[in-house]
Amino acid sequence: MAKIDKVFSSPIGKVPPFTFNEKVAHVFDDMAERSIPFYREVQKMITDLTLTFYQEGSRIYDLGCSTATTTALVYQGLIDRDVKDFTIKGIDSSQAMCDEARVKLESINASKDHVTITHGDFLTEEIQDASVVIMNYTLQFIDPLKRETVIKKIFNGLRHNGILLVSDKLLQSNTDISRTFIDKYYNLKRLNGYSELEISQKREALENVLIPYTLEEETSLFRECGFKGVDSFFTWYNFASFICIKK
Ligand SMILES: C[S@@+](CC[C@H](N)C(=O)[O-])C[C@H]1O[C@@H](n2cnc3c(N)ncnc32)[C@H](O)[C@@H]1O
Repeated sequence: MAKIDKVFSSPIGKVPPFTFNEKVAHVFDDMAERSIPFYREVQKMITDLTLTFYQEGSRIYDLGCSTATTTALVYQGLIDRDVKDFTIKGIDSSQAMCDEARVKLESINASKDHVTITHGDFLTEEIQDASVVIMNYTLQFIDPLKRETVIKKIFNGLRHNGILLVSDKLLQSNTDISRTFIDKYYNLKRLNGYSELEISQKREALENVLIPYTLEEETSLFRECGFKGVDSFFTWYNFASFICIKK
């Protein structure tokens, strides 16, 4: 049975801050597909780039893996290429997301020797011997004061020629452009079946929880943490995905 996102469909009164709780985890795949522009396409691109930059015997990390959509695609991609020596580590701080992730990986018979889901905080988990680290729509939820520490840790845990892949919602510094991009985004949500109530309650719930950086702030962060090559591989109005390479 399809799990449809109805989290914000009824009036809530005072909307509490957004959390990745059981209710959200249960419908997360539908929420992501209908709320994140070109979600499937970005997943395909992330998988493709991971397969391009993966180094034999190294680790791949999916930080904030949620229901393991990316983890599962990368796993399948490596298996299809007959790669034998790899480890994928999905980490998420929501127990409910980890439960959903494990169900998804079991459904594709993913080998536990190759892929594990850890219920934990990636701010404290070790990153070691990685060729690819993925942060798909996750960095935006991290306290800005902690972002530099985590990106530096990732940089240090990557092999030479390893990559960090980041997707995030961005803030536009010009208010006219910002308003226009946000309108375009809410139009997309309407087209994807969300009501005005759902859009406004979700916006309220995400305030001070999802803290977007400007393009400048985001790319400067990656460069200041040591990444020499930083480029975007996808953009749609106020959403962007970046590849950062360690040289
Ligand atoms: C928008 S979701 C990520 C979506 C997912 N990467 C995908 O591509 O479908 C953000 C996830 O990050 C997790 N998260 C946020 N902060 C975290 C932290 N410090 N450590 C581990 N997971 C975290 C949340 O629990 C949530 O599942």
